[in-house]
Amino acid sequence: MDNAILVTGGAGFIGSNFILQRLSRDSSCIVNLDKLTYAGNLRNLESVAREKRYQFVRGDIGDRGLVRRLLERCAPRAIVHFAAESHVDRSIRGPEEFIRTNVDGSFALLEETRSYWSGLSEHDQAGFRFLQVSTDEVYGSLGADGPPFSETTPYAPNSPYAASKAASDHLVRAYHHTYGLPTLTTNCSNNYGRFQFPEKLIPLMILNACQRQPLPVYGDGRNVRDWLYVEDHCSAIATVLERGCVGETYNVGGWNEKCNLEIVETICDLVDQLMGAGGTSRRDLITFVKDRPGHDRRYAMDASKIERELGWRPAETFETGIGKTVRWYLENETWVRDVTSGAYREWIATHYSS
Ligand code: NAD
Ligand code: DAU
Repeated sequence: MDNAILVTGGAGFIGSNFILQRLSRDSSCIVNLDKLTYAGNLRNLESVAREKRYQFVRGDIGDRGLVRRLLERCAPRAIVHFAAESHVDRSIRGPEEFIRTNVDGSFALLEETRSYWSGLSEHDQAGFRFLQVSTDEVYGSLGADGPPFSETTPYAPNSPYAASKAASDHLVRAYHHTYGLPTLTTNCSNNYGRFQFPEKLIPLMILNACQRQPLPVYGDGRNVRDWLYVEDHCSAIATVLERGCVGETYNVGGWNEKCNLEIVETICDLVDQLMGAGGTSRRDLITFVKDRPGHDRRYAMDASKIERELGWRPAETFETGIGKTVRWYLENETWVRDVTSGAYREWIATHYSS
């Protein structure tokens, strides 16, 4: 494949949205390396499965032999690294897999990338990019009135998930500083949109509201997140990949801080409108449950650097984005049915029973 981009974790929520967006907007060829954990779903990519510019390879980023052969064979001009264990609650119950993929796996990928990149011509070395897709959670938790996270906020990760992402971000930084690998890092706030696995707040609440199941809000529901529509995150990554300054970090956010209770109430009202309230508002299903251990109180992103330097701003407002998202989950019953069987039911039963 000419001009290829290697995407890791491209069968997950953000990775699959990124692949679909890239294939529809430019002439990129994409190779998708994904292990297909419970969070990976090839159904997301059915519409491009036969496309000549797209290829799927099932495998683990920690399998160095596989990664080496893949890099030799597809000779990518860039790697966009999404693959990760991504759910905070799962990292609290079982951190090991997070260390294996997010730390050891990222290290293996970086080592193989360094070796591949070292063998390129000077011209190709200069054009190559490794983009690390990271999160705002590495910066820790803000007080109610503190200024939002900037690119110079010191790292202070609080959950095993955040710590594992911070570790891989540090490795990426070190590979640039020490070996000159042309890296870029994006730190993004909470995403929402189609294809998000319903263990995360927004899809979980949409599906429970549809089925008139309890809506489990942790603690007092006043924890604040900055929400960004997934397609905006994908366009930010593409912008940084093409125009970002090597070795730099860019914060990506939606300028849209909301507390969890407000998010859940908005979803209840939208589901009532679309399915009919039948005399009782779905807000009545809201149930306050035991808080997440070490629950970060507030995240907020200062995304002015990416706007000032690269001209990126989110296109979607929260109102338009959440409307599209709720409608998508209501209209895609087969997708929902496929992901909410087996292992998913087990997770919900174990996690919410305690
Ligand atoms: P996700 O859990 O939906 O998808 C992760 C994908 O990675 C899955 O397809 C899974 O099969 C794959 N994967 C896991 N382990 C792998 C391994 N060892 N080798 C190869 N593939 C593997 O995650 P997401 O929400 O799409 O997040 C993608 C990336 O973006 C992650 O790095 C996450 O930290 C980051 N991020 C997510 C958000 C968010 O709100 N979801 C926000 C900021 C940053
Ligand atoms: O901030 C970016 C991060 O956002 C990403 O790096 C992570 O991969 C992604 O999972 C997400 O982490 P959060 O922990 O913020 O997302 P989650 O959807 O799990 O929870 C959002 C908020 O909602 C959080 O304050 C916890 C709360 N919550 C979550 C669930 C699943 C509830 O109150 N009830 C729930 O059942």
